[in-house]
Amino acid sequence: MSRLGYHCLTRSRKLLRVPKPEYLNPLRDPEDQRLPRIAGPCALILFGVTGDLSRKKIMPAIYDLANRGLLPPGFALVGFARRDWADQDFAKVVHDAVKEHARTPFREDTWKQLAAGIRFVDGDVADPSGYERIAEVVAELDHNVGTQGNHAFYLSIPPGLFPDVLKNLESSGLANSPTPSSWRRVVIEKPFGHNLESAQRLNRLVDSVFPAGSVFRIDHYLGKETVQNILAVRFANAMFEPLWNNNYVDNVQITMAEDIGIGGRAGYYDGIGAARDVIQNHLLQLLALTAMEEPLSFSADDVRAEKEKALRAVTVPADIDAHTSRGQYASGWQGGVPVGGFLEEVGIAADSTTDTFAAMRLNVENRRWAGVPFYLRTGKRLGRRVTEVAIIFKRAPHLPFDSSSVEELSNNTLVFRIQPDEGVTVRFGSKVPDTSSIQVRDVTMDFQYGDSFVDTSPEAYERLILDVLLGDPPLFPHHEEVELSWKILDPILEHWDSRGEPEQYASGGWGPASSDHMIACDGRTWRRP
Ligand code: BG6
Repeated sequence: MSRLGYHCLTRSRKLLRVPKPEYLNPLRDPEDQRLPRIAGPCALILFGVTGDLSRKKIMPAIYDLANRGLLPPGFALVGFARRDWADQDFAKVVHDAVKEHARTPFREDTWKQLAAGIRFVDGDVADPSGYERIAEVVAELDHNVGTQGNHAFYLSIPPGLFPDVLKNLESSGLANSPTPSSWRRVVIEKPFGHNLESAQRLNRLVDSVFPAGSVFRIDHYLGKETVQNILAVRFANAMFEPLWNNNYVDNVQITMAEDIGIGGRAGYYDGIGAARDVIQNHLLQLLALTAMEEPLSFSADDVRAEKEKALRAVTVPADIDAHTSRGQYASGWQGGVPVGGFLEEVGIAADSTTDTFAAMRLNVENRRWAGVPFYLRTGKRLGRRVTEVAIIFKRAPHLPFDSSSVEELSNNTLVFRIQPDEGVTVRFGSKVPDTSSIQVRDVTMDFQYGDSFVDTSPEAYERLILDVLLGDPPLFPHHEEVELSWKILDPILEHWDSRGEPEQYASGGWGPASSDHMIACDGRTWRRP
């Protein structure tokens, strides 16, 4: 079984190891997680090459993988779009995207090697003749570049186009590998539907074309090192797990705040909104990783089984108005600069009711978590960019100090700093030195990735694309998880639909007043990250 691979290479290990393609290294032990995992020969066929995601994340990640020696010489990238481009024109688009957004330095020899396998196919997703041309191109690549019939189809396209692409991949024969030794896989970007019913329909469609083990749904949060670190901290250490329950935890706060607005993404974002864009996938995955029981192993099946149990235990409070908050950014100030509101963004209708902020209290009804609220919030144009999971512990049951000694002491807190300042913080009380009576004040202990490890963390897309090419599924949500997440969110979204306009909040702040109000109802406040 494949496992989650944690690559915390120390300085000494890194210097000793020279990446070497797997197929050149017959002595490689596939279970040795310290060795670099290198993809075998294959072609990645990218749909949606003109989109932002392709340019900013997917193309640079492919280059970074090549630069790190993790792609084989027999690798090819095929772009598909309705453009009158030759191979060189597409190669130029990839080149510019790499120069602008790659994480690792630009190296001419890496680029030359990658460019030799770049092809472009001009076609419309709905027109079968485009797929015939893809078939010709991948046959040529199998022969000339040595991609050996292994093909991954990456759908970075609006979900409305999925049915056309999937049907054509099936009818053209591209979805089926002709030999048992070669593989076909499909990679799907979110949104996976806009509610439970549409997600089920999409899953049925995908499953009718590709077998379950060949479908890779991307939730890029799962590719982040700091997200995988939640499992490492919880299950590799003795000192956290005994406290990880309703005897000691008061509440859990999961925040993903962005300081940017929707930028040029009006077409995608309007009608989707913050809850569908971020809570349905990233934040519910963070909740599942925080709340789940210890898996039997880190195989994809065992991790999923525990995540699914946790998601199944989630309930939504009966009074949705009191325990959720929905907002839309108005004008305000961001970084000292005046910014316009959501309704003034290009491409957004003046009467749009799309939420750009969403917060909610969820309960996890099992023995471990009964009575511990999980507060989730996300929003655009908030005070600063930060994603964190904060475990807020109960106050000590008895404080043998007079009240003035501990008035500056708050709840002990463990914070997973997912980004941008990656690490973990523990906050607890300590004696203030040199005071006549004992005074206790909050102090913090910090673990910073940058201080403890020499390697910078790879981008989430590097990890996930490599896993697709290796056929390694643990970091990809299963269709069951996707559907469970919609089951949680659907009642809230339906309720909000009946409520009309979202509340306005000033850009640069921390969301609408109802967000503070919903948590205050429980006698708590949001952490200021
Ligand atoms: C995407 C959302 O999934 O995540 C975007 O669609 C959001 O709206 C982005 O901006 C944030 O990603 P990250 O990795 O910067 O937190």
